[in-house]
Amino acid sequence: MTVETPGVGLLGYAFMGRAHAHALITLGHMTGPPPIRPRLVSVAGRDEARRAEFAVRFGFERAVEGWQEVVDDPDVEIVENLLPNNLHAEPVIAAARAGKHVLCEKPLALDAAEARAMLAAAEDAGVVHMCAFNYRFVPAVRRARDMIEAGELGDIHHFRGVYRQSWGADPSREGVWRFDAAQAGGGALGDLATHVIDMSRYLVGDVESVAAEVATFVPGRTVDDAAAAAVRFAGGAVGTIEATRFATGNLNRFTWEVNGSKGSLAFDLERPAELVVGGTRTLVNPDGWWPPGHVLGWEHTFVFELRRFLDAVAGRGSVAPHGATFADGVRASEVADAIVVSAREGRRVSLPA
Ligand SMILES: NC(=O)c1ccc[n+]([C@@H]2O[C@H](COP(=O)([O-])OP(=O)(O)OC[C@H]3O[C@@H](n4cnc5c(N)ncnc54)[C@H](O)[C@@H]3O)[C@@H](O)[C@H]2O)c1
Repeated sequence: MTVETPGVGLLGYAFMGRAHAHALITLGHMTGPPPIRPRLVSVAGRDEARRAEFAVRFGFERAVEGWQEVVDDPDVEIVENLLPNNLHAEPVIAAARAGKHVLCEKPLALDAAEARAMLAAAEDAGVVHMCAFNYRFVPAVRRARDMIEAGELGDIHHFRGVYRQSWGADPSREGVWRFDAAQAGGGALGDLATHVIDMSRYLVGDVESVAAEVATFVPGRTVDDAAAAAVRFAGGAVGTIEATRFATGNLNRFTWEVNGSKGSLAFDLERPAELVVGGTRTLVNPDGWWPPGHVLGWEHTFVFELRRFLDAVAGRGSVAPHGATFADGVRASEVADAIVVSAREGRRVSLPA
């Protein structure tokens, strides 16, 4: 049995740093065959004590200050960008030009123009690229996509997706980078609605046009707190995409529903192992893990996402269609940008084909 050991460098050691490092360690044990055991080469972050602690905890060989050191490291074949959104484009473009495969957290960039530059750099360099829309990798979501693709729902009439958080209303969170347009791009729109946009595209196909409202409830805040769009899909379905950081009582609740001529599917991230098929709760387990009914959770989305990415790097299949490429990241940003224009100008906005 051959064990692949690609060298990985992480930019960022905080929330997503932990989620990705956990997945990198787990996938070698639990997925396959054949196994992939990434070599955890380097992690970059600003705080010396925190990056050193992270390196020891997860087993990285080096902890460095700047992203450039990771990109320049000859032992790093894969760069994962887990930094705030304003720090996505430059390191990813530099990494691609250095011939490294690149995975970048969502939203891919501050806006679609920046995202397109990242896609162009990755395509020019011929490297594998992925935008980390991890909810595609919930086993129940994959089951839904397979059912829709097989025609089990018939003609698709509706997609309805809502991502609800509530921490935007918490005054103690003022000052975080997510409230600063220069660092985050958008607020609930860039952070949460892009997940919903990508999910809608993964399940029912591309977005054709949007008519939207965007709101900022806290005076002086430079990003939106909530966004809602009525959407027409290229395949003829109509629906809604909504995201808010002001849904009091909801911590991280992403729900969606698809209605077709032969049936409906529904999902709630608070019950990630369940797909509701025509009103009936169904437990979905991925192959090769635990026996049926021994359920998986949120962190496993990162395990499956990274497994897809590392398989593609190893020449075993491609990121698309089940993983999101930078092209999907560009499209999510184009839809998000169209939502902003629609809300600002009070008109329906069509997306380029
Ligand atoms: N896929 C998901 O479900 C999901 C969930 C959360 C966050 N994200 C995305 O992941 C990315 C990171 O988010 P997070 O929640 O991990 O953020 P975080 O605030 O927890 O961590 C940010 C990291 O970036 C580093 N950093 C910040 N400014 C820097 C600078 N100027 N120079 C160098 N390093 C700097 C910090 O030290 C930290 O390591 C964002 O793009 C976010 O949208 C995705």
